[in-house]
This record gives sequence, C-alpha cells and structure tokens, in this order.
Amino acid sequence: MSKKIFSGVQPSGNLHLGNYIGAIKNFVDLQNQKNNQCVYCVVDLHAITIKQDPKILKDSIRETTAAFLASGIDSHKSIIFNQSQVSAHAEGSWILGCIARMGWLNRMTQFKEKAGKDKEKASIGLYIYPILMAADILLYDATHVPVGEDQKQHLELSRDIANKFNLDFNVPNFFKVPDPLIQKNFSRIMSLKDGTKKMSKSDPSDLSRINLTDTKEEILNKIKKAKTDTMPIPNEISELKKRPEVENLLGIYSSLNNQTTEKTINEFNGKNFSDFKDNLAELVVQKISPISLEITKLLKNEDYIDQILKEGAEKANEQSSKKVKEMKKIIGF
Ligand code: TYM
Repeated sequence: MSKKIFSGVQPSGNLHLGNYIGAIKNFVDLQNQKNNQCVYCVVDLHAITIKQDPKILKDSIRETTAAFLASGIDSHKSIIFNQSQVSAHAEGSWILGCIARMGWLNRMTQFKEKAGKDKEKASIGLYIYPILMAADILLYDATHVPVGEDQKQHLELSRDIANKFNLDFNVPNFFKVPDPLIQKNFSRIMSLKDGTKKMSKSDPSDLSRINLTDTKEEILNKIKKAKTDTMPIPNEISELKKRPEVENLLGIYSSLNNQTTEKTINEFNGKNFSDFKDNLAELVVQKISPISLEITKLLKNEDYIDQILKEGAEKANEQSSKKVKEMKKIIGF
C-alpha cells in the first residue's frame, strides 16, 4: 500500500543523534520504500515559538536542510521545504485552532516542560504549537508520521483535530486521520550523561549529546566520557531496566547497526565497557562522520540549498493550498 509520509524537524541548532535515530534515519528508509510519497519539512514557524536570533535562525534553516540531504533524503524523491515559505501552514493552523479545545492543549506535557515554572511568560505560539503541527500533517493528507516518542501526544492531538473537523462539518474522511510511526525500540535516545533524561538540543552540556556536526575527535571523546556503571555488559535484556545509561548505549549501537538489542547483548555480554565503547565509538564515527562532512560541504553552497528549499516550497504549496481552499469552502467562506 502506498503511504503518504509527513514529518518535520525544528531548525533550532544542534541536530543530534536522537533526531537522527528517532526521526531522520527513518525518513530516509521510508523514502526508499516503494510507492511512498514523502514530505519533509524544516519547521521554522515552530522554531520561533521560542526567541531566536534572526541570523542564527537563517543559518539553522540551511543547516537542518543540509542535514536532511547529507543523511540521504533526496530532493528528487521527497519534497523538502521550510514551513514559512508555504502560507497554507499558518492559514490552516488558524482554522484548526478554532476546532481544537483548550482542554486538549492544557494536557500537552511538552508545553509544561518547555514553558517551565513561569507559564505566564511563555509565548502563545508555544501553547498552540501542536495545532500548527496538526495543520502541517493534515494539509498533505499524510497517512503516516514518523517521529520520536516525545511527539506521540502531539500526534494524538492531530488525530483528535482531524476527527472533530470531519464530524463537525459532516465531511467523513476529509482529513485523513494520520498514524504515528514510532519505532518500538529506539524512539527515545537518552542523554549520554543521564540515562533518565532525553538527549536534547537544549541540554546545557554538549557532552550530553552527539551532534550531527561533531568531528571524529569530538565523537570519540563524548563516547569515552559517556556515563556507565561498574558492572559488565549484562546477559539478559531484562537486566537493563535498572541500568538506563547502559540500555541507552546498547540501543544506540543496535539502532545504528540495524540489529536488535538482544543481538548486541549476545555480541558483548560479559565484556567490560571499554571494549564496548571502542566498538560503539567506531560505529558512531562510521555512521555520523560522513554526514558531518557532507553537511559542511553543502553549507559552502548556500544557493544550492536555497534552490532546493524554493523548489520544495513550490511543490508543497501546490498540495497544501488546494487543501486550505477546500477547508474554506467547507466552513462557509
Ligand atoms: P524536534 O525538532 O524537537 O525533533 C525532530 C524529531 O526528532 C525526534 N527526537 C528524538 N527521537 C529520539 N530520541 C530523542 N532524544 C529525540 N529528540 C528528538 C522528535 O521526536 C522528532 O521526530 N514538533 C516537532 C516537529 C514537527 C513535526 C510536525 C513532526 C512540526 N510539525 C509534523 C511531525 C509532523 C518537533 O519539535 O520535533
């Protein structure tokens, strides 16, 4: 069956191994499966829900695009564009904001985390951010949305919004109700310094994450310094429950090697951590360094990146503006 795939990544600097394993790596796999139509968006409208320096934002949009391309997303096979160039996203988002309920948004845990203690000072954009995300997905009739575990709740909200619109206006199936594609095993990559915290671009310690732009030396150093414990690699997967840092490192190895955690345990059980870390570092360098080098190369040619985004935006606009037009007709404009 052919799938329509939509997903997005914020251009807010420091794309990391969590973004790669949880999302971008799957974007590439989905693109390369027969009959899939994929749309991958650099979600710059989402990025400004938190204050951004305009010059840095501009660079980050290109850097995220370069990371897509360097990871294997092909602009001939997939649509690659940045959200702010396609006005249907903002327009559709307003309409869907009149469908979504405050009570639904009040449940969003990511808003609570990002707004911190002083919610009154958070931007309205940060609060209504999941509605924009619903517009992104629904405007393209996406059937499947590959994301990491942290986006699950937002996707459930997109489904609720789609269902309510279809019901309120008696237009069954007008919006496709999208299915999340969240990997069973490696959908939540954790900090290298604390196995109970998500790997994140906002962590103040750069040692907590491997950035897609890190050099080979930086990768080796970060893996060497990654937190572990004093026990050897376990024999049983069940023993990982109490050892989150170990579970995370084995997960990273397994995902990058496209194998199960069981297989990784069989490969390394009983061995000490320095052996495993040497192998892990080698694998991460092997997978990430070519991406990092390619990002650097691509960023030297800004015109090329801008051209890809412009062509992508034209294609995205064609699809999404049609959908907004239909939405307007349905609601009586
Ligand atoms: P963002 O930019 O925070 O993250 C991009 C993708 O990376 C995944 N991810 C992770 N996966 C595993 N482990 C981690 N530590 C980790 N950190 C991040 C995220 O789950 C995500 O898939 N709101 C979204 C972007 C967005 C979007 C959309 C996604 C906007 N519109 C429509 C899908 C469909 C976000 O802020 O992702």
